[in-house]
Amino acid sequence: MLAIGCDQGGYELKLEILKYLDGKGIAYKDCGTYSPDSVDYPIYARAVVKEILSGNCEKGIIICGTGIGVSMVANRYKGIRAALCGDCFSAEATRLHNDANVLTMGARVVGPGLACKIVETFLNTPFSGEERHVRRIKMIDETDEM
Ligand code: RB5
Repeated sequence: MLAIGCDQGGYELKLEILKYLDGKGIAYKDCGTYSPDSVDYPIYARAVVKEILSGNCEKGIIICGTGIGVSMVANRYKGIRAALCGDCFSAEATRLHNDANVLTMGARVVGPGLACKIVETFLNTPFSGEERHVRRIKMIDETDEM
């Protein structure tokens, strides 16, 4: 299961992505926001994070105007590896190397066509599982203990 959320800046793009996911038969939980009214993006970033950390969802997508604010929020949580992607190369690399479990995007940065391709790449690329990447990912969480 995939968790997806956005603020008002990402609302229209989220609708496009939901259409894409529906077309592919990919199950998701829509964590809001559910209208273009102004909201606070940390609420929706946390809602997606919660779905992942509770084990309800394996991956998440969070969209705001830039993708930056939601990325900052999500990466505060241990076990969350959120990657802000504006291209397919980054989406592929962050799955292969970082085992990213959250994709963030900026609706004012990428158009719907590219965003759906980024989502497709993110969802279809497995983690490489290579020892050096496993080691480095473990080191991300160790940063908490400094
Ligand atoms: C909302 O205007 C905007 O600040 C938000 O969508 C996001 O870009 C924050 O990082």
